Amino acid sequence: MGSLDSLHHVSGWAAHDASGQVSPIGYTVRETGPNDVLIKVLFCGICHTDLHQLRNDYGASKYPMVAGHEVTGLVAEVGKDVKGFKDGDRVGVGCLVGSCHGCKPCKQDMEQYCPKRIWTYNDVSPDGRPTYGGFANFMIVDQSFVLKIPDNLPLDAAAPLLCAGITVYSPMKHFGMTEPGKRCGVIGLGGVGHMGVKFAKAFGLHVTVISTSPSKENEARLVLGADAFLLSTDEKQMQAAAQSLDYIIDTVPSPHPLDPYLALLDMNGKLIILGVVPSPLQFVTANIILGRRLIAGSFIGSIKETSEMLNFCVEKNVSCLIETIQADYLNKSMKRLEKNDVRYRFVVDIGKAFESKPQAS
Ligand SMILES: *[C@@H]1O[C@H](CO)[C@@H](O)[C@H](O)[C@H]1NC(C)=O
Ligand SMILES: *[C@@H]1O[C@H](CO)[C@@H](O)[C@H](O)[C@H]1NC(C)=O
Ligand SMILES: [Zn+2]
Ligand SMILES: [Zn+2]
Repeated sequence: MGSLDSLHHVSGWAAHDASGQVSPIGYTVRETGPNDVLIKVLFCGICHTDLHQLRNDYGASKYPMVAGHEVTGLVAEVGKDVKGFKDGDRVGVGCLVGSCHGCKPCKQDMEQYCPKRIWTYNDVSPDGRPTYGGFANFMIVDQSFVLKIPDNLPLDAAAPLLCAGITVYSPMKHFGMTEPGKRCGVIGLGGVGHMGVKFAKAFGLHVTVISTSPSKENEARLVLGADAFLLSTDEKQMQAAAQSLDYIIDTVPSPHPLDPYLALLDMNGKLIILGVVPSPLQFVTANIILGRRLIAGSFIGSIKETSEMLNFCVEKNVSCLIETIQADYLNKSMKRLEKNDVRYRFVVDIGKAFESKPQAS
């Protein structure tokens, strides 16, 4: 391997405890195996899940933790059996870096539902090492979990597509939410919700943003292109909108009542839940029975679908609205993310942090 050996000594930012504060860390990744792609990381989005994992909100965090699962960069080295990628290719990595390849979901190209899925970080690689994410200058990933980023997509704005984007694109395809003219509501204008508005518009749907905050209306209409806005705290507006939607994309990650939203759905309407809520949600069963409504969930999307989504984004000129930050702003960005104070995704310019420094040798 010669000079490339140094690329396996990685520099990143890790949390060392549940404070979630990150500080520099160095570690070694495995040598490039036959199916491995070594990636020089240039950009990494910050997802709400990162915040929860860094702070051990799910109770399963292992430290040190190098978070980040919305990663884009360039191929630095490929293993001898890697066919689809070569040095310098623009690539991305999302939430997963492994699966069993043998179970029913894997065989149906839905490896995100594989019980043996390997998370991009806070998990264990087949070689026994911890998995570390994109808040670092290099990652090594099995070729089956690496995505080509089309030339026309900027690497910074493409990064959040790999979690926030696919989280909403996959259920829209699966549940048939692609018929122009159908009416779609979106609850929660965060990273995932804003992509919901963009994809729904790209599929030709009539989009209503539903929010508790009147201040979101201008933004929803003028910046994101929503067709309508519904203030969920205004009972009159909510009543007037009864049975006016075919679909609702619910991205709210905290406890909230479902009944007021179910009432907005027309007959056969679908409420798709994408936010991981830490406690059980309740609803009145008559609200789904009388109207044959459906409540469903969905989890990210497969590599195959993600690849399809990236091409769709080129075709329809869809990308994420991002705020690019430098690595020394990581702690502060987490604080702001906690308050939803970002339009709509932070993306860390990882490449820049290493520009001025010569690579370790
Ligand atoms: C693509 O989208 C960007 C921003 O969302 C916009 O500035 C640009 O004009 C669009 N390009 C085309 C060809 O529609
Ligand atoms: C984040 O905060 C910790 C604790 O205050 C500090 O040690 C660390 O350098 C900060 N990290 C960054 C990237 O600024
Ligand atoms: Zn995520
Ligand atoms: Zn499997």
